[in-house]
Amino acid sequence: MAVIGSTGSIGRSTLDVVRRNPGRFKVVSLAAGRNTKLLKKQIREFAPAYVSVIERGAAEEIKREFTSREVEVGFGSRGMERAAAFGGADITVSAIVGFAGFLPTLAAIKAGKDVALANKETLVAGGSLVMKEVKKHGGRLIPVDSEHSAVFQSLAGHRIEDVKRILLTASGGPFLRLPAARLGSVTPKEALRHPTWSMGRRITIDSATLMNKGFEVIEARWLFGMPADRISVCIHPQSVVHSMVEYVDGSIVAEMGSSDMRVPIGYALSYPRRVEASAGRFDIMGKKLEFFEPDPGKFPCLSLAYTALSLGETAPCVLNAADEVCVEMFLKGGIGFTDIYRVLSTVLEGHDPRRVRTVEDIVEADRWGRKAAEEVITKGRRKI
Ligand SMILES: NC(=O)c1ccc[n+]([C@@H]2O[C@H](COP(=O)([O-])OP(=O)(O)OC[C@H]3O[C@@H](n4cnc5c(N)ncnc54)[C@H](OP(=O)(O)O)[C@@H]3O)[C@@H](O)[C@H]2O)c1
Repeated sequence: MAVIGSTGSIGRSTLDVVRRNPGRFKVVSLAAGRNTKLLKKQIREFAPAYVSVIERGAAEEIKREFTSREVEVGFGSRGMERAAAFGGADITVSAIVGFAGFLPTLAAIKAGKDVALANKETLVAGGSLVMKEVKKHGGRLIPVDSEHSAVFQSLAGHRIEDVKRILLTASGGPFLRLPAARLGSVTPKEALRHPTWSMGRRITIDSATLMNKGFEVIEARWLFGMPADRISVCIHPQSVVHSMVEYVDGSIVAEMGSSDMRVPIGYALSYPRRVEASAGRFDIMGKKLEFFEPDPGKFPCLSLAYTALSLGETAPCVLNAADEVCVEMFLKGGIGFTDIYRVLSTVLEGHDPRRVRTVEDIVEADRWGRKAAEEVITKGRRKI
């Protein structure tokens, strides 16, 4: 297997699944961003044939340290793509965060690999084009996101024609019970305190605004070929039910378990079999489960995803790009929590969706979305 984004939350969990199943998986390539310290540890433990990092300097540093070992080192976008599509890999775990994961994931798809997809941005930004490439090159796209893994598992053995709707569950994030009036003053530290899942910084902030759930709606639209009006979101604070599928006869099939990403990762890696993945056994006894509608007034980012889907073409890509800028600015203290929605809605309103014919159209839309968000933020500051 190839693991791109090996130093992140999903990457580390993936390697833990490998560790728990000795002799079952062989890691042939790894790609990371800037955490060379951890990457070096991973090289020592998993002995991949190829690794890649963002910067040339970091690649040279790794080369110096591993001269005696059989590891080839690359860098930059070509290095990422090489790691993703590496020859000996049957499956590529796509775990880079953000649009940075798009081209490497596409490279794996074009190389005919099965892809265990955590990088939802690949489908948010380029859903239609990406699904065409998957079909053309014959690999499978297997979800890692716990919600999509739950839907995938709840669909097994059923006919897609019999599905009435998909129900994606959302914990509601750290501000579920906070009065809406207080959202304007929440700090990055508070927003990073997710109640049920331990994840990377961007997805944690996106979970607090529910923008992440919106991106998951877009991801589900492409993964399962389901129109947006048949994908609903329900708040389920316990995060025990990871998502559900409702069928035409009224039955609802769900997947349940602990909030441990190693479970969906293990399933994606071994599908249709199952492997040892999680540390503890999940005890269902005594659990109280609640489900309710999200509050659109308090969490308006969710509706932006539906708007972007209905606009189609470059709109979801622009929304994701603008969100990446907003989350980074919020984490740096440059904008407030509720500004995230304001900036995103302004960017989306100002976007005239372009047809997506090529990969370059998507890359250009990403660039446009970032620039537009930066401009809206700068203008907002000038007003203050
Ligand atoms: N975490 C979860 O539980 C979870 C659940 C469902 C879906 N996902 C999805 O999985 C993806 C990864 O999330 P995460 O939480 O694991 O993120 P994370 O902890 O922030 O890790 C991100 C990984 O991407 C690498 N990276 C960042 N920018 C890069 C760039 N420009 N080029 C190459 N590599 C880069 C990082 O490298 P360095 O750290 O070395 O810089 C790190 O390995 C996201 O798309 C997220 O939506 C995550």
